[in-house]
Amino acid sequence: MDRKEFLASMLTLGGAALVPSVAKADVLKNIERLVAAAPRKKMDERLAVLLSDIHICGELKEGKSLHYPYNPTSLQLRIEEILSMRPLPANVLVFGDVAWDYGLVTDYRYAAELLRPLEDAGIKVTLGLGNHDRRTAFFKVFPQYAQNTPVEGRAVSVVALPDVDVIMLDSLAEKPVLQPRQATTVSGEIDKEQIAWLKEFLSQSKRPAILCAHHPLKEMPLLEKQISISPNVVGYVYGHVHYWSKMPYIIRSREPQRMIQTVSLPATFYGDIGMAVMHTSAKGARIEYSSKGFWWPQPADNPPKEWQRRVDDMQNEEVNLLF
Ligand SMILES: [Fe+2]
Repeated sequence: MDRKEFLASMLTLGGAALVPSVAKADVLKNIERLVAAAPRKKMDERLAVLLSDIHICGELKEGKSLHYPYNPTSLQLRIEEILSMRPLPANVLVFGDVAWDYGLVTDYRYAAELLRPLEDAGIKVTLGLGNHDRRTAFFKVFPQYAQNTPVEGRAVSVVALPDVDVIMLDSLAEKPVLQPRQATTVSGEIDKEQIAWLKEFLSQSKRPAILCAHHPLKEMPLLEKQISISPNVVGYVYGHVHYWSKMPYIIRSREPQRMIQTVSLPATFYGDIGMAVMHTSAKGARIEYSSKGFWWPQPADNPPKEWQRRVDDMQNEEVNLLF
């Protein structure tokens, strides 16, 4: 089964039977081959891949995720695509909702295992947190985020690219007391401590900055206010909604006017399926959507014709952030 046939099988088989183990083995074998070849490939520091909403369920039954068992393979297809890139991107960023639903330790362990081929190939992976994540469990599996964050207790990362700083903020508004498998606040929040750090960072920096988080900017007034007084913020990129879109965001319509470009990323789970590829230069960042499908809420045996229409409409989608 070649890759094209495998993709076709992803779209034509339904539900739990969606990922035939033989196909999964095929993808894994290809990933192993690509990782082995990686040290001989050029790595581009100005190239990054943006993924979001991977929603990995680590609770397994007969070797497959209990919920949405095709999600790991959907992620592996993106990883295979990334490892096939020439040159390789130096960075991959994941914009939150790493875990399936309630941020279990086992979800993060499985996600770490799935993402490992990227690290093995020398690609730096940076994870953000979404409303389906939980900090305690996340930090347990990925303690480096608790250690390296500039804002204690939050998972904040600065990815310094040659021409721009990409700042992954932590917009998870986690209720202080949560029962296991209890949903937390769905909407996002950037707390005062993060804003204070960001204010200081941006005022000290002479470089452009792309701000990133899981949630849309409109949900986070403190962040919007900070952007209104930070001329070096050149764009805002987020996940959460599972649709690709590029929208200008008017922060202030009166003089001095302030508008920034916002970009909503596809998911590897329901909605727009795919990833975005970001090329940066001294002049700006070009973010291209690589569309690989659409389904809602899961792939179907006979997908409605609107799904393919959506994929066709999303070809050659890109957006430019100006520095
Ligand atoms: Fe999500």
